[in-house]
Amino acid sequence: MKYLLTGGAGYIGSHTAVEMINAGHEIVIVDNLSNSDEIVIDRIEEITGKRLVFYPFDVANKEQLTEVFAQNQIEGVIHFAGLKAVGESVQIPIEYYRNNLDTTLTLLEVMREYSVNKFVFSSSATVYGEENKPPYLETMKKGSCSNPYGWTKSMIEQILTDAANADPELSVVLLRYFNPIGAHESGLIGEDPQGIPNNLMPFVSQVAVGKLPELTVFGDDYDTPDGTCRRDYIHVVDLAVGHVKAIEYASKNKGTEIFNLGTGVPYSVLEIVNTFRDVNNIPVPFKIGDRREGDLQDSWADATKAREILGWEATLTLEDMCRDSWNWQSKNPTGYR
Ligand code: NAD
Ligand code: UFG
Repeated sequence: MKYLLTGGAGYIGSHTAVEMINAGHEIVIVDNLSNSDEIVIDRIEEITGKRLVFYPFDVANKEQLTEVFAQNQIEGVIHFAGLKAVGESVQIPIEYYRNNLDTTLTLLEVMREYSVNKFVFSSSATVYGEENKPPYLETMKKGSCSNPYGWTKSMIEQILTDAANADPELSVVLLRYFNPIGAHESGLIGEDPQGIPNNLMPFVSQVAVGKLPELTVFGDDYDTPDGTCRRDYIHVVDLAVGHVKAIEYASKNKGTEIFNLGTGVPYSVLEIVNTFRDVNNIPVPFKIGDRREGDLQDSWADATKAREILGWEATLTLEDMCRDSWNWQSKNPTGYR
């Protein structure tokens, strides 16, 4: 019995692959490498000492996906594959809806054909929208998203919920991630954005390594203690362990369940920059710029439900996150390529 990780060569998928293998599970990865590199598969094997099955296929290609299910006895699926750049999704919304929805629908169809009924999905805190105020609780009514990427997550949550309502055998776990940062302690796998990073931590790391001249902090006039936005940053290895708990939960329960995966503790942009500088003893030049359109002032989880039901909670600290991000960046200054 194996678990299929779609998008398993990506940032979160590769860390989850390691933790799934560490927990004794066999895995299969399907990833079209649109935002990753085949080297990641070698790195996962190097960390775990196990060989794994990899298909460089598009998850939306039904013929290819069927081949994967025909060749492997798949027990359940963790679905990471998707396009994820917020700004790009505003430029090319059709590609985002096509890729993110099609991959999910194709998976559901092929899973049904092969009677595979455990589905864990990579959702996002973005579905809480601006209508809700943190700490976000899973019971809150979803809000409106400020971009097409966010809407794909909200729509896919609905599709999966409807599929589970219609099929009493199906078990769906919707994981709403907060802000994953950090990397595996080996420095062999990490986040490798293409082009200029949109997200804070890869930008900070690339400034520290000298690839970018300085960070722009997007606004210091928010109603927060230091004026900069606050987020719930979570170490990607903690997040990965959350997936192991989630797929094990899906094996024992039916229906749809939602879990926030966050620490429940917010940090500001300046706290991230200063902690990164202090922990790694390296300067991070920055300037204060305008607010970024679409940014929420605050976002953090109520992390109680995952602790009580999954028996999972984040254990790694902000210092760990900053140290491991830098360890990855300094060992791989140009990423995987
Ligand atoms: P990533 O881009 O590193 O990983 C996604 C992987 O999916 C990539 O390796 C890419 O090549 C692959 N992929 C994309 N479309 C595919 C397709 N049609 N067929 C096969 N493979 C395909 O992103 P990540 O940060 O690891 O995110 C994983 C998931 O978590 C995504 O669904 C993302 O939207 C979601 N998520 C990420 C964050 C975050 O901050 N990183 C936050 C919330 C949710
Ligand atoms: N920031 C800067 N300068 C930068 C980059 C970011 O000041 O160069 C700030 C942002 O303004 C924000 C914070 O750092 O206050 C975090 O920004 P990120 O882009 O790293 O993360 P977001 O919270 O904006 O976005 C994340 C995910 C999205 C998801 C969103 C909502 O990247 O996929 O959370 O859940 F949609």
